[in-house]
Amino acid sequence: MPSPAPPNPHRAALAQYRRRASVYDVELALFEPVRRAAIARLALKPGDTVLDAGCGTGLSLAQLHAAVGPRGRIVGVEQSPEMLARARECVKQHRWRNVTLIQASAEDAVIEHEADAVLFHFTHDILREPMALANVMRALRPGASVVACGLQWASPWAWPLNLLVLGAALHSVSSLAGLDRPWSLLAGSLDDLQVESLMAGGVFLAHGTLRP
Ligand SMILES: C[S@@+](CC[C@H](N)C(=O)[O-])C[C@H]1O[C@@H](n2cnc3c(N)ncnc32)[C@H](O)[C@@H]1O
Repeated sequence: MPSPAPPNPHRAALAQYRRRASVYDVELALFEPVRRAAIARLALKPGDTVLDAGCGTGLSLAQLHAAVGPRGRIVGVEQSPEMLARARECVKQHRWRNVTLIQASAEDAVIEHEADAVLFHFTHDILREPMALANVMRALRPGASVVACGLQWASPWAWPLNLLVLGAALHSVSSLAGLDRPWSLLAGSLDDLQVESLMAGGVFLAHGTLRP
């Protein structure tokens, strides 16, 4: 008798985003200023190739497209079919020809373009999974711009804010582990790492360049 298939390690996350896909864009509206700040830190130039790791419904695509222009390229990686279907619809509506969307987990995605930059926007699960991070970082050229942002624990005295962080995290990540320094696994690969706190400390914005 064939042995049963091993359980998918992403099963919970896939179910979470299957449920959220139809309302996701509304839920994220509050964080638009963070997205703008994160994309600005990428310092993209016309013609650049940028990865959008865990691109979700494609909320970053328009701003990334405006920054790299029609000669640039955007590569989105996303494991949730329901989230990615919305990103595909967005690409179709805008008739963008320079956006490649890959449906795969970040650890398994085959990324064929060498990239000048990568955005991890509210992708805690990817940031805390070394194999996923390594696979995405392998697609970058030396000196590439790396930007990550998302939820973090604020100072312990800011416990009302931390209740909000907890509520949002339970809604969007597979594990609370690492929420004190979500960027820490990136730190060893980056030069000039800077970490900013936004939204009263409940959100981090980390950026640096890939060490050659
Ligand atoms: C909070 S959403 C952020 C989506 C998008 N980056 C944005 O800013 O709107 C997190 C996304 O990461 C995706 N994700 C989580 N773990 C992943 C993994 N291992 N590989 C690929 N995508 C993943 C989820 O399916 C979800 O779409």
